[in-house]
Amino acid sequence: MEAEFTFDTGIGRPYKNHQLMRILVLNGPNLNLLGTREPSVYGTVTLADIETILRQRAAQLGAELDFRQSNHEGQLIDWIHEAKGRWDTILLNAGAYTHTSIAIRDAIAAADVSTIEVHLSNVMAREPFRHHSMIAPVCRGQIAGFGAQSYLLALEAGVNIKAV
Ligand code: DQA
Repeated sequence: MEAEFTFDTGIGRPYKNHQLMRILVLNGPNLNLLGTREPSVYGTVTLADIETILRQRAAQLGAELDFRQSNHEGQLIDWIHEAKGRWDTILLNAGAYTHTSIAIRDAIAAADVSTIEVHLSNVMAREPFRHHSMIAPVCRGQIAGFGAQSYLLALEAGVNIKAV
């Protein structure tokens, strides 16, 4: 039998006895370099820091969380395929593949797992080639521009989607 939790949705309606939410966080290319990579754009927080704060918040929210990173498109696609039926929501920062990968878009559509597009930077305020997202049409929504907070906001949304 699955564990049951009560938590505050943040909108004044506590949601009771929901099943444990399972959140899979996937990070794409170059995000392993956070902390030293273009700090003027991405800040100095590392991916390990983001994982730590997400795990803390997930524990508070009563959510199960796994956190992964790959520089390889095929690996990300395999993880998205495997998510079907195993994870309730994917938080996906696909890095530059966001703007190029029809294959990742097709994987999200095929897996049919609610997926939230996440970016540290405000991609719409950057170079024109970052303004288009291949994956946005098959995602539940997008959160961008808040640095590491983007991930926390996406986690809140992912956990609460089924509660409200
Ligand atoms: C990014 C934005 C992308 O355009 C870029 O290629 C990244 C990081 C972000 O989190 O802001 O690698 O996804």
